[in-house]
Order: sequence, then C-alpha cells, then structure tokens
Amino acid sequence: MSKNEKKPLGPNSVDMGERGTYDKRNKLNDLTGKEWVYFTNSVWITGYSPTARENVGLKTRKIHPSPKPPALMKDIIEFFTKADGKILDPFAGVGGTLLGAALAGGDRKVIGFDLEKKYIDAYYKVCDDEQMKKYPLIHDDARNMLSHKEVVDEVFDLVLTDPPYSDMMAKERTGQRKKLYNDSTPKPYTELRADLGNIPIDEFLVELRKIMEIAFSRLKNKGYMVVFCKDFQPQAGQPNLLHAEVINELCKIDGLEYRGMRIWHDQAMSLYPFGYPFSFVMNQIHQYILIFRKEV
Ligand SMILES: C[S@@+](CC[C@H](N)C(=O)[O-])C[C@H]1O[C@@H](n2cnc3c(N)ncnc32)[C@H](O)[C@@H]1O
Repeated sequence: MSKNEKKPLGPNSVDMGERGTYDKRNKLNDLTGKEWVYFTNSVWITGYSPTARENVGLKTRKIHPSPKPPALMKDIIEFFTKADGKILDPFAGVGGTLLGAALAGGDRKVIGFDLEKKYIDAYYKVCDDEQMKKYPLIHDDARNMLSHKEVVDEVFDLVLTDPPYSDMMAKERTGQRKKLYNDSTPKPYTELRADLGNIPIDEFLVELRKIMEIAFSRLKNKGYMVVFCKDFQPQAGQPNLLHAEVINELCKIDGLEYRGMRIWHDQAMSLYPFGYPFSFVMNQIHQYILIFRKEV
C-alpha cells in the first residue's frame, strides 16, 4: 500500500470524513476516535467570548455569581452521552447544563434543580429570548429529587453538576468578580439555610454526598457523574485541597468510582496582583472537573 492510500476500514468503523472514524461498538457517545482522544486531554483551555452563541444569554445569566459557559457543558455532555442521553443536574443555577444540552442537540433530555427561583426564571428567559430548547428546571431542594416524578420515572446516563462550594462565595468580592459579574447579586447564591453554599465545609461535604447519593440511585450502571470543583486558597495549617476532599467523600458512595479529572483553564479570567509585592498568592484560574463512574 502506498503512503497516500487510506487504510481500509475495519468491520466496526464508519468513515465520518473530516471528523475521523466512528466505532460502531462505542456505547458511550457519538464521537469519532479522534474526538474521543482529544477530550481525554487532562488540561482544557477555553475562553468563550461573552457575546458568542456558545455563551448564550450571558447578559441574563449574569445575575448568578458563577454561571458555567453552556459550550463547556455541551462538550462534556457530548462526551458522556449519546444523542438520546438523559442528564440530571441537582445544582443547576441559571442552567449552564440545560443550555449545554440544547446546544448539543439530538433528543437529549435534562432535568435540573435549584433552590433559587430567580435563577430558574433567568434560565427560562434565556430560552425564550434565544429560542433554545427548554428543559425542566425544578424549583426545589435537591434533597427532594425523589419526590419528583420526572426523576423517579427516569434512569439517567449522566449526572453533571457544579455544586455551591461552602463559604467560598461568602468572602468579599475581589476586583475580578466585580468586573466579571453584576455586583448587585447577593452573596452567596441564596440566603437560605438549605443552600449548601451557606454551611461549614465539614457539613457541606456530608450534605453534598447525600445529594449525590440520591442522584447516583437514578444513574444507570456505567453511567458517569461529573462534578465541578474549585479549591480554596491555602491557609496556615489548612491546605484547602477541596477537590481531593470531594473525591474522597464521593468515593464513600458504594459503587461510585473516581476515574480522573480534567482541569479547566478559563481564559476569560484575568490575573490580579494578589499578595504583590510581599508574598505568593495563587491566581486560581482553573477548576477541576471530577469524573466518577457507577460500577455496580
Ligand atoms: C455553582 S452554582 C451552579 C451554577 C450552574 N452550573 C450554572 O451554570 O448556572 C450552584 C447552585 O446550587 C444551588 N443550590 C444550593 N444548595 C442547593 C440545594 N440544596 N438544592 C438545590 N440547589 C441548591 C444554588 O442556588 C446555586 O445556584
């Protein structure tokens, strides 16, 4: 065979042109081998423009202190589901996951939960303004997920969520947050005691596990659970490696296994001179995307 000649395709391969080759045995997603391998890169650098379609409705979603770019969620959804995938987000905020699923398209279904009505209203406004497919974002505590028919009647392929990290948001806003987000937003996410963002870290970890255990009960076997996490700044005597604590806590769920992470570098974040000129203070412009799988 000459150098320019294409290797003949195997019995399981489908030629997808520029996209590469799709393997018919692929039970996880609709990606080609090339696209699959690209996603497994442990570092992920993005910089979605606030006005791009990928960041649809940001102007409205900015009432939330930390809305996720829908395009980022779309890429995660496209890796962990096929076109008819079912997705559950217990902490949906202004709907980054739901909008990501709409961008991914197909016949996907998503159900989200959030405690704060104004975030839910903002999500529906974006759907109306931008003519995006609308999914149910239920106004309730995620601890009550099993009292909703939409959850009990479904088996999910993916749980994708971005929990509120303890008292992280309760700290004074830095110049960076003021610049990026509308500063009239109350902090943390809500004033409610039920908000996991308002409780001490030890309690938070236990409550997070309980909620993820409920989500796990509706996840299919071999289904993935993908959880965003950001560390706190280290302090004297406290390394504050929250991502490691979250991994250890969620691994207490019988049948859930940690499978690795992607580190997301958000290029939309600017660097600030924290600590300058006296000491090193990290400019944390990355987040962890922790990946677990149900193995029962
Ligand atoms: C980090 S935000 C999620 C942001 C979301 N990924 C987005 O793109 O908008 C976490 C959300 O969890 C919600 N939350 C906190 N405790 C909750 C609970 N017990 N049940 C449901 N939602 C809760 C907060 O209101 C907040 O909007």
